[in-house]
Amino acid sequence: MSKFNKGYLITMDDIVREGSDILRTVTEPVSIPPTEEDKDEMAAMLQFLKNSQDPELSKKYKLRAGVGLSANQIGLNKRMFAAYFSDDQGQSREYALYNPKIISHSEAMIYLPESEGCLSVDRSIQGFVPRYEKVQVKAYDGEGNELRLRFKGYEAIVMQHEMDHLNGIMFYDHINKEHPYKLPTGVTISSLY
Ligand code: NI
Repeated sequence: MSKFNKGYLITMDDIVREGSDILRTVTEPVSIPPTEEDKDEMAAMLQFLKNSQDPELSKKYKLRAGVGLSANQIGLNKRMFAAYFSDDQGQSREYALYNPKIISHSEAMIYLPESEGCLSVDRSIQGFVPRYEKVQVKAYDGEGNELRLRFKGYEAIVMQHEMDHLNGIMFYDHINKEHPYKLPTGVTISSLY
């Protein structure tokens, strides 16, 4: 039984930090359709992200703002993540994806000029993280329906960051070790903004 039952309020105390083995684990697929337990955990993850972006609640519960949270970041060996952010048009979008997989991607790449951040990483890290500009994702929703989703720009970066977590990869693994601001050669790569 997981402690993240219905209505559980995830706080920073529940977030697994770097150095923990679960963040370096290739997570296990969940059953499709997901179980009630999986869905309750997912609901708690999504609510955490919403709370973390709410000025009052984030202050009250001392939450760091986050746009994505993978199950292994709360210690669960499950292939699922939640994401909550505003798209390029300022519309808020939420995703609760089970067994997500990138099925195709652009050749062109992008990077966030300020680098990336992660709820599991408490230090600031400098350097560019190359990401595909566009990705197509296959995943399942809470009812077990198969989804095909297309993302580009910022959204594509969030999806790749979270999908990496589920494969035991941290964003800084992609940063050039000797030259953190060096970009890959032989590909089109541009700053997101
Ligand atoms: Ni992260």
